[in-house]
Amino acid sequence: GVQVATNVTIQKHHVSRDKRGHILGHQRSFRGCTVWFTGLSGAGKTSISFELEAWLVSRGISAYGLDGDNIRTGLNKDLGFSKEDREENIRRVAEVAKLFADSGTVALCSFVSPFAEDREMARKIHEAAELPFFEVFIDTPLKVCEERDVKGLYKKARAGSIRGFTGVDQIYEVPNNSDLIVKTTDCTIQQSMFQVVKLLEENEIIP
Ligand code: PPS
Ligand code: MG
Repeated sequence: GVQVATNVTIQKHHVSRDKRGHILGHQRSFRGCTVWFTGLSGAGKTSISFELEAWLVSRGISAYGLDGDNIRTGLNKDLGFSKEDREENIRRVAEVAKLFADSGTVALCSFVSPFAEDREMARKIHEAAELPFFEVFIDTPLKVCEERDVKGLYKKARAGSIRGFTGVDQIYEVPNNSDLIVKTTDCTIQQSMFQVVKLLEENEIIP
């Protein structure tokens, strides 16, 4: 079986969140939180997340985008797309996002995260650390994602050369407790991004 670490004790930092906020850019305040984008492949998670990352950083607010395609070439390159591997993917990313958020950065996570219980785990990991967590459902219909087929993955999945593709032969559990639902079909990336900006303003993450 898997070896589990024993005899480990949580070590407390000497730096308060207030202090961490104070060294971050000209918008000096603690703004650490996680925005979790979920949705089908091709829904627009990466586009909206990276647009928001650039928008925040250009305003002096520390933000960092953690993205499925990128994380899966590094930290999580040992994981595939089975239910178990997707769960472990989300667990590790949620733990990393928690650390980014704790450091005062706005962590922007763009992962398909098709299973409700995995998204709930990500939320719980943040709640336990008393860090704000916002789930944003990028609600683009399968038909639209498949028409876009930016990476040609739907074509491959329909042809049977990719197995376990979300929306084709693996389930996407539609969120029912998202903090925000973004419909992208008739919106530009900018318009979608501003809906998330509004969410962060309403929750006093950004001024
Ligand atoms: S998950 O479900 O959250 O663990 O997935 P994630 O880490 O976000 O990785 C999704 C990206 O991997 C590519 N890809 C697949 N997606 C879904 N299902 C299968 N089987 C699959 N195989 C490869 C694809 O580029 C996804 O990126 P996005 O941006 O969502 O299209
Ligand atoms: Mg993407």
